[in-house]
Amino acid sequence: MKNEFLLDPGIAYLNHGSFGACPRVVFEAYQRYQRELEREPVDYLQRHFRAKMVGARGSLAGFLGCGADDLAFVRNATYGMNLVARSLQVGAGDTILTTDHEYGAVDRMWRAFARETGAELVRVPLVLPATSPDAILEAFRSRIDPSVRVFAFPHIAAVPSVVLPVEGLVQLAKETGVTSVVDGAHAPGQVPLDLGSLGADFYVGNCHKWLLTPKGVGFVYAAAHQAERVRPPVVSWGNISEGTSALLLENEWQGTTDISAVLAVSDAIEFLEEHRWFEKVVPQCACLLEGASAALLEVTGEPSLYGSPGMHPPQMASFRLPPGAHSSLHADLYHQHKVELPVFSDSHGEFFRVSVQAYNSEEDLGRLVDALRALL
Ligand SMILES: Cc1ncc(COP(=O)(O)O)c(C=O)c1O
Repeated sequence: MKNEFLLDPGIAYLNHGSFGACPRVVFEAYQRYQRELEREPVDYLQRHFRAKMVGARGSLAGFLGCGADDLAFVRNATYGMNLVARSLQVGAGDTILTTDHEYGAVDRMWRAFARETGAELVRVPLVLPATSPDAILEAFRSRIDPSVRVFAFPHIAAVPSVVLPVEGLVQLAKETGVTSVVDGAHAPGQVPLDLGSLGADFYVGNCHKWLLTPKGVGFVYAAAHQAERVRPPVVSWGNISEGTSALLLENEWQGTTDISAVLAVSDAIEFLEEHRWFEKVVPQCACLLEGASAALLEVTGEPSLYGSPGMHPPQMASFRLPPGAHSSLHADLYHQHKVELPVFSDSHGEFFRVSVQAYNSEEDLGRLVDALRALL
């Protein structure tokens, strides 16, 4: 599959999780759309805008298992999470329950939002090693009190990469009368989704990570009873788009922009389907990752962050670094060994994260193991 992508062949690219790579055919479709736009911008952005967006939403909705009107495209998950936060009706005396595994920018957004609204932000600690979905559910359950109005959690935490029991948490939110907000930045294209039956109030996702689109495409799903409450961070023309709720009427047209990456969503989904992604490619990637895990744990000398199988997503796992100074590890891996790998530190310690995508091979993982052996 390496030839299907545009990546530098000299690099062992093990960081799809940060910035996913786009397949050649999808990128070519994207460039075709850009040329069409430049050929007759008014025809493209005025006469055909609605039909094109409806088509792109229809493709994505089919892939995600929801209605085309339940989704609005946004430029990325960060924007989508901001949009959802601004649509919540919370204030002083209310609590937002989130986790200590939030993506940095999202955590920052919740902190700013809590400051602005007077709501309290409580981060539920997710214990490592991650042992079971029930332990995570229990951690949330134990923090519920009458002030809790929102559960906001990642479907797949970025670092350390952990899968949260999204169905159980959404159900718990429903039983408690709490609004559920899922940050699904890493889920679409990595795990099958059925947003219609999940029933979250809000689900935010990225297409430019595991769904393989060009950069600049994410989405916000809102349940029907929430769609009218959505307030975009950017107020534009409003009511210019088609749709039945504020989710679309106020979000689809956000000022003049290049929608080519959005239109390439249909091409990315076709690519995934053509390659039987969830039946073939994802399990192969999971197998490669599993195969390298023992050597990676051995080279770090640290125990696994996962107490049971299935606690990390199929194509992504994190590993704890041994005590020591690792501030140059990321740069050394890249400059000395041509390995692209993220290194993180947070309140839980220092970690690296391995992403395995269709274009990776055993050689890439072998190069990583050898490089870590040399550098640690
Ligand atoms: C869990 C999570 N949420 C949100 C984001 C933000 O995604 P973006 O940079 O596309 O807005 C990321 C990025 O890696 C992430 O890992």
